[in-house]
Amino acid sequence: MPAPVYIGLMSGTSLDGIDAVAVRFDPQFQLIGCHSEQLPEFLNQQIRSLLAPGDNEIDRLGILDLELGKAFATATNNLLATCHLDKSDVHAIGSHGQTIRHRPEHNFTLQSGDPNTITEHTGIMTVADFRRRDMAAGGQGAPLVPAFHNALFRSSKTNRVIVNIGGMANLTILPADPQADVLGYDTGPGNVLLDSWIKEHQQLNYDKNGDWAAQGTIIPQLLEQMLSLPFFHEAPPKSTGREQFNLLWIQRMLTLLDQAPNNTDIQTTLAELTATSIALAIKSHNLDKAEVYLCGGGSHNQYLLQRIQALLPGFTVGTTTELDLHPDWVEAVAFAWLAKQTLDNMPGNMPAVTGASGYRILGSVYPV
Ligand SMILES: Nc1ncnc2c1ncn2[C@@H]1O[C@H](COP(=O)(O)OP(=O)(O)OP(=O)(O)O)[C@@H](O)[C@H]1O
Ligand SMILES: [Mg+2]
Repeated sequence: MPAPVYIGLMSGTSLDGIDAVAVRFDPQFQLIGCHSEQLPEFLNQQIRSLLAPGDNEIDRLGILDLELGKAFATATNNLLATCHLDKSDVHAIGSHGQTIRHRPEHNFTLQSGDPNTITEHTGIMTVADFRRRDMAAGGQGAPLVPAFHNALFRSSKTNRVIVNIGGMANLTILPADPQADVLGYDTGPGNVLLDSWIKEHQQLNYDKNGDWAAQGTIIPQLLEQMLSLPFFHEAPPKSTGREQFNLLWIQRMLTLLDQAPNNTDIQTTLAELTATSIALAIKSHNLDKAEVYLCGGGSHNQYLLQRIQALLPGFTVGTTTELDLHPDWVEAVAFAWLAKQTLDNMPGNMPAVTGASGYRILGSVYPV
């Protein structure tokens, strides 16, 4: 009998779509298929309208939850068709959901995308709501991917750092020493500020390859102002979201400057903020030597990649392609792995990463 297939579903803070993967973990990791499902425009708008406090949130969230559940099911069914799998071939789906609010300071986080609907519309057992058990145990509920990075990417020969550049950016330190603790936390914004600024000024969803950012000059006063935010100086565990890093925050930072800069230079400085906050975080661990591997959509941003490389002399910087997993699918695979952990009665969190009081089996199970 072949080892069971798991499906991972991820819809991140960038709202660029649903990533769906089919994988096996035994006898070794195998990516069977992947599929990216665009979010229908009306859903994208409903999510955006709920990201900040507003009127009639409960009704709007209820409707969104159901519609997103259907969209996750559609993504799954299209993935199955793409890789010629039947629902009976799949043991379970691990679904992250769409984060609507993440407030670790109040001990709550909210992901939407009804798992009952996913099970009903796919005929496959679903595991979801991974973050809240960790929060109930006093953790940040995030990041959850480090345990997966540890399982798949750790080497006993070299220190490795995995950096996921999604809407936010998070890193995982994987020491070569098997006795040393894995560390992981959010470093701050990934693509979210770059996306917001180009949307506002050029009506584009993102700065392809960082071409716009590459044309400007860094504004030192703005960079310094942004880096003075307490978040960047807090010790881990820490996690962040759009509640902190958004267009309004950029606009507030700009009011503190002596002169109004041009929009291109602002884009360049926002890219530098992402690159610098990642590089400073990596350097703060005084690793003798380390290989840095980037994943997430930001790893396609050539300008950002160049800046990270330039700020990390002495480190080799590449992408997870070199570790045999394409950077676009790492997060979705992590949620397939987390579903497997749940169903195997194994913990999914790392207390040293999230700050939880112990290891916990994460998630809720929605059987067929
Ligand atoms: N070719 C590219 N050039 C520049 N940026 C890119 C490119 N491709 C993708 N991106 C960026 O990556 C973003 C999507 O990244 P990703 O899907 O990893 O983030 P996410 O969905 O927010 O996930 P996460 O849960 O990690 O926050 C896009 O919004 C865009 O900013
Ligand atoms: Mg995405």
